[in-house]
Amino acid sequence: MRIDIITVQPALLESPLGHSMVKRAVDKGFAQINLVNLRDYALNRYGQVDDYQFGGGAGMVLMCEPIAKAIDELKAQRQYDDVIYTTPDGQTWNQKMANAMSLKNNIILLCGHYKGIDERIRQLYVTKEISIGDFVLTGGELAAAIITDSIVRLLPGVLGNEESALSDSFQDNLLAPPVYTRPSEFRGLKVPDILLSGHTLKIEEWRMEQAELRTKERRPDILNP
Ligand code: ADE
Repeated sequence: MRIDIITVQPALLESPLGHSMVKRAVDKGFAQINLVNLRDYALNRYGQVDDYQFGGGAGMVLMCEPIAKAIDELKAQRQYDDVIYTTPDGQTWNQKMANAMSLKNNIILLCGHYKGIDERIRQLYVTKEISIGDFVLTGGELAAAIITDSIVRLLPGVLGNEESALSDSFQDNLLAPPVYTRPSEFRGLKVPDILLSGHTLKIEEWRMEQAELRTKERRPDILNP
């Protein structure tokens, strides 16, 4: 899968996408992640990509032309399944959406900044608008990093043990059960006996019970959506 990320702050994405699972996925060729610096498509030699908003008001708006040029150039090279704009007024990102997106071939993530992007880009180019939660970030870059991470880890072959994505929280509308590692006792707290029993079937049952219990207690809204 290929993900092109258009941004005015590529440095904000280099670190989150340059380590751990995402780096491994890229190194192994399961994912291609391309950062597009919007300033390379600036209007003038001052690197201008934003301007004051019509009608007045605080905050700059990313202009149509640089964004259109950047997207047109990408689209001339390959077909894209989606052009996704990261914005607090988008649809809230969740595991189901990450699963669906991981099946696509090529996507563009367009990061908003300042007051956002000119509305006409949303009308002309954007196919999906995604928020990562009901709060406002300085820009869409961190949202794009989160969206990318959650997609890339689902690509076949990326996780060492294919099972582990299936047992993540939110797959099957359940939160993950508690997990433990050595030592078997820490400050008087013992690992549940069942996990030390070696009884695989019983352990699986216990994990399912715990997942249901935890979901009922913490997120009853996802149990029966
Ligand atoms: N840009 C600013 N805030 C955001 C959010 N909550 N989700 C996605 N993009 C954003």
